[in-house]
Amino acid sequence: MVMVAPSILSADFSRLGDEVKAIEKGGADMVHIDVMDGHFVPNLTFGAPIVKWIRPVTDLPFDCHLMVAKPAKFLADFKKAGADYVTVHVESEGWRDAIETIRDMGMKPGVSLNPDTPLVSVMDVLDKVDLLLIMTVNPGFAGQGFMSEVVSKVRKASILKSGEGYRYILSVDGGIKPSNVGEVIDAGADMVVAGSAVYGSDDIRGAIRALKSAR
Ligand code: DX5
Ligand code: ZN
Repeated sequence: MVMVAPSILSADFSRLGDEVKAIEKGGADMVHIDVMDGHFVPNLTFGAPIVKWIRPVTDLPFDCHLMVAKPAKFLADFKKAGADYVTVHVESEGWRDAIETIRDMGMKPGVSLNPDTPLVSVMDVLDKVDLLLIMTVNPGFAGQGFMSEVVSKVRKASILKSGEGYRYILSVDGGIKPSNVGEVIDAGADMVVAGSAVYGSDDIRGAIRALKSAR
């Protein structure tokens, strides 16, 4: 069954702790934390302090997605705050060294690709990452439309994973809904990120179940 990582970017921040507990109770597998710096993407969200505040409220792993221009300078803060997975973008500065640093600090490194970035750009790190995050929207905002043209990249990453015996979690992020999650699962995704499809629903448990039961 596919894993689901709801993105707290779409949560109600006036009661963030409860929103995190609700996805844990609802069957989520990880908490997806979208960190944006206003440079790498046009939007600004939050940083390590949010991770620190919600760490005591859940046992779920934290899947921190860094959409920042220079990830290196934030890694120690995320470690201190309690991050588990830390994913850096291949389009950001110093991403290769960041992967090493994340591992050395005792966290699990991930690498992410924008929709237009080909898989070949990460080929030499696929044996070094615990998570490969394929974007099906241009990062920056929740609630955008799913780019189905990226599904072929998910399929390639899945074939490579089984062919080469890589151990990364193949995760897909952006515009995931019950209506399109099936094609992402068929392409080989291990995990899907969902912001609006989960937190936009009145029934969080039902929304997570709808994503998991699509196949
Ligand atoms: C986009 C973020 C996504 C986004 C997902 O920049 O990385 O994680 O919040 O939200 P939905 O599921 O609404 O596209
Ligand atoms: Zn994300």
